[in-house]
Amino acid sequence: MAEQDGDVSVCCCLLATVAFIVILVGVVALIYEHTHDYDRSYSQPPRYSVAITGVAGLDLADVAGDRPTLSPVFNLTLHVNNSGDRDQACVPLLSTASVSYGDAFLGKGSVASFCVEAKGEQEGRARAWGQNVTVPRFLRDQLAGELKRGDAAVDVAVKMPLGCNIAACYDKVLLCKAKIRGGSPCSMTVANVPR
Ligand SMILES: *[C@@H]1O[C@H](CO)[C@@H](O)[C@H](O)[C@H]1NC(C)=O
Ligand SMILES: *[C@@H]1O[C@H](CO)[C@@H](O)[C@H](O)[C@H]1NC(C)=O
Ligand SMILES: *[C@@H]1O[C@H](CO)[C@@H](O)[C@H](O)[C@H]1NC(C)=O
Repeated sequence: MAEQDGDVSVCCCLLATVAFIVILVGVVALIYEHTHDYDRSYSQPPRYSVAITGVAGLDLADVAGDRPTLSPVFNLTLHVNNSGDRDQACVPLLSTASVSYGDAFLGKGSVASFCVEAKGEQEGRARAWGQNVTVPRFLRDQLAGELKRGDAAVDVAVKMPLGCNIAACYDKVLLCKAKIRGGSPCSMTVANVPR
């Protein structure tokens, strides 16, 4: 009987210790979370811009010509400005860049993954291409007009896999309208979109 009592008190002591440790860990985690969030509120999320550095297969002759399809190639640079952030910013594996004009698909390609340290800036390259893509005539006419005026621009979308929570998986999607010639970068809007 006495031995059993001893067992019970050892058991109780053990339980109390475990409970104490669990509570301690919880409190430490809460404090860490709080200070981390506090830190975060003073840092800026990374900013992204994209520039088209070269285009082939989308000259006026291609767009206004009689060939029913286009095969454009776009060289892109994706600039990540992480100078305001205290965390590393990464362009993850399996990121892609797509180019479209007036909702007509022009090309797509992978973006090599890279990470930018806190307070850093870095640029990645990508090539988006399409083989025999069809663009409706009214859009080709519109694009031809813009090419003649020298102000043609296409929509660039960069999609990065973000990860999953219990409910869904998300992509970070960056969008902007980039000038075909001139190479001036456009700053991208950022949205987290369920896959
Ligand atoms: C795109 O980049 C590649 C490699 O840097 C280069 O060989 C190619 O000529 C470029 N294309 C255009 C259209 O600028
Ligand atoms: C990066 O962002 C910082 C502000 O956070 C700004 O001062 C700097 O000019 C930006 N760099 C570029 C290349 O835009
Ligand atoms: C693209 O179109 C050209 C001519 O219209 C054709 O010769 C070629 O086989 C096509 N390529 C593909 C990959 O469909």
